[in-house]
Amino acid sequence: MKKLLLAVSTVALLGFGATASAADELKVGKKIYDRAFGRGCGACHDISSNPQLVALIKSGDLSKASFADTLKNGKNGMPKAMAAIMAVGPVKKAGYSEDEAIDAVWAFLAK
Ligand code: HEC
Repeated sequence: MKKLLLAVSTVALLGFGATASAADELKVGKKIYDRAFGRGCGACHDISSNPQLVALIKSGDLSKASFADTLKNGKNGMPKAMAAIMAVGPVKKAGYSEDEAIDAVWAFLAK
């Protein structure tokens, strides 16, 4: 009986956690976009001559694997971004791993 109660409450907790974290993920993703590198990704990407991330994701021209690869390794004029992303306050506060931080900024751009 005790075991059953424990199982039920664990499931309830996990279910609740998942709902809270989907909304949190979008918020953290927005903070990354606005704050990484001090001025945010938009300092470069909101300029029309640079890649338009939302449009590229929506059209299917930018895969998540390629997105993650660019953030980790940089690409021509695009600086490596993981250190800047992991330094954003809300990312640290959420305790995200690098992959979770990539998921968050992707989720914000793809929403
Ligand atoms: C200093 C300006 C600058 C900043 C800041 C910047 N980017 Fe970029 N980014 C670029 C440029 C320029 C390119 C185009 C690189 C190329 O392919 O020549 C690019 C390319 C990319 C690409 C690859 C697009 C493609 O079509 O393959 C991704 C993904 C990307 N940036 C994401 C981000 C994210 C997310 C951030 C914020 C964490 C960010 N960038 C911050 C300048 C910047």
